[in-house]
Amino acid sequence: MSVVDDVKSKIDIVDVIGQYATLKKAGRNFKALCPFHNEKTPSFIVFPDQNTWHCFGSCNTGGDVFTFLMKKENLDFGEALRRLAQRAGVELTRDAPGEDAERKKLRELLATASAHYHYLLKQHPAAQRAREYISKRFITPETAARFELGYALDEWEALRSFLSGKGYALRELEAAGLVIARESGSGHYDRFRGRLMFPIRNRNGEVIGFGARTLGDDEPKYLNSPQTPLFDKSATLYGLDRAKDAIRKENLAVIVEGYMDVIGAHQAGFCNVIASLGTALTEKQLGLLKRLTNRYALALDPDAAGQEATKRGLQIAREALARKTVPVPMGAGLIGFEERLEAELFVIPLPPGKDPDELIHAAPQQWSDLTAHPEPLVDFYFHALTQDLDLQNARDKSAAVQRLAPIIREIGDAVQRAHYTQKLARLVQVAEPTIAQEIAQVQRASPAEKRSAVETPRVAPRAVSKREEYFLTLALRTPEHLPRVPFLEPDDFADGEARAFFLALRECAAASDFFDRDAFHAALDASLVPLWERLRAAESGVPELNQPELAREIEIAAYRLRAERDKTELARLEVLLRDQDELRAAADEPHLRARVAFLLKRVAESQRALSARTALKAHTF
Ligand code: UTP
Ligand code: MN
Repeated sequence: MSVVDDVKSKIDIVDVIGQYATLKKAGRNFKALCPFHNEKTPSFIVFPDQNTWHCFGSCNTGGDVFTFLMKKENLDFGEALRRLAQRAGVELTRDAPGEDAERKKLRELLATASAHYHYLLKQHPAAQRAREYISKRFITPETAARFELGYALDEWEALRSFLSGKGYALRELEAAGLVIARESGSGHYDRFRGRLMFPIRNRNGEVIGFGARTLGDDEPKYLNSPQTPLFDKSATLYGLDRAKDAIRKENLAVIVEGYMDVIGAHQAGFCNVIASLGTALTEKQLGLLKRLTNRYALALDPDAAGQEATKRGLQIAREALARKTVPVPMGAGLIGFEERLEAELFVIPLPPGKDPDELIHAAPQQWSDLTAHPEPLVDFYFHALTQDLDLQNARDKSAAVQRLAPIIREIGDAVQRAHYTQKLARLVQVAEPTIAQEIAQVQRASPAEKRSAVETPRVAPRAVSKREEYFLTLALRTPEHLPRVPFLEPDDFADGEARAFFLALRECAAASDFFDRDAFHAALDASLVPLWERLRAAESGVPELNQPELAREIEIAAYRLRAERDKTELARLEVLLRDQDELRAAADEPHLRARVAFLLKRVAESQRALSARTALKAHTF
């Protein structure tokens, strides 16, 4: 979590805004006389569930808590962040200046070690056993070279003395996780001995650690690098550097368990396959994939433990993956927000007793069919969650509905939602309207419960949205194209951090004919540097485009941002206008209607502009 997200999650937007305006509860939201303009009836609303505010009166503006404070106190983003961080008790630390040099050194060291292990596997007489092993596992020498597989000699100080000879300090070898200090205090010994080495790379292809397989039955089967400044197992996916293009192209990421599964798949030409390093799938790992695709298939073990792992993985994925928040009427004029999953999740049911590596080797066609038609998550749940039930029995029918309703309710697509409602009705042989009502009730009950239980932690604030981030990534890459989207305004960014970054970028681009990226970076307020770093890292997810393509891509991204903002505002207005309640009476109705007409026109314009420009790739942004 970034510092900004941390601060956001600890700050209650209602408390902060409450210091500047007298907030009155209106359903799950709060209303007030707008603190930014003079008015007699309140048209300023705070949406705590979304951590946002909006003035539906003459301001027609809104944003998050940062934006509020910046406007109200006339602060820049850094100042607003400092104030709120202090309030939240979050420390704003800057990375130590020496950090980068140290990481660079470690990367270089690991690359050297990996090349050395690889050389030993190819050349050293003592690696004969390892060479036989990989050929027994059907790994060709080309594949071994492509993944730079290696061999660690079965000696205590072989790597240590090799790397010392290259001038690396023991302290560095230790920091890289390659050697371990002897308990006696005298000297260091090699961590990996007599094992087949799998270099683990980050998404840019840099070696950050190793997995080391025994060639016999030693325990553990795989010895992995410890956590180091470069290697965080829970934030790494094996094979991602080689898989990212295929994942984007096929718009599907296939997640398996093991190193060998990835290698086998890639060797057979299935390149959209990555592995989770033997842990349950984590949120950080999914974060790496989000930029590439919104379709994920989990191919995990079919045995009982594997099924549990699959369920756990799916659960984490459902929690971590892209959601969009849609406004829904809650009756009595209240606006509620529902989370809908934007990602599509699938399961690849493997035949019993076969892991992907074996299946791909024995029956590549079957693997290919399975990944071409993976089982949708909801279908998987239909049998996984009802296996232990007797669906002739009334109580078990009810249990089945209780278990499946929350899953059906978060399906983003209305037609699919209807399809599964029908499927559930058939499964338990109960009339469909009853089931639909059950699902709707779960729907209504849950967010209210969330809010009313005071102690429950608040919904984590959404970080800079993918759309905003994608636009900024493109804009940072070619700020000279910013004049092509003159219509874009700071308000088009819902997130205060993104908004501030956009302003800084636009200002710098306007200041001179030549945009000097390094100068921009150097002049950037320290509070925006973390976002700069995230955007730079995201650049690897941007397709290779030539200048005219990039220009068009920026326009598309800008129109999408604008359309998204307008649609959110429209949806809120629609709810305000449709339901008879005090909010509507309070807000100036002709003004609201005029705004609706304006937004409708602008959305239509954006859509026309978008259909005139076709995106080069099907982005998920
Ligand atoms: P597997 O045992 O399925 O590994 O563990 P595999 O890659 O299929 O290996 P083979 O086919 O037996 O050679 C799955 C993953 O779990 C992690 C590794 O990332 C492995 O690839 N693991 C497993 C460990 O980290 N340590 C272990 O001791 C075992
Ligand atoms: Mn295996």
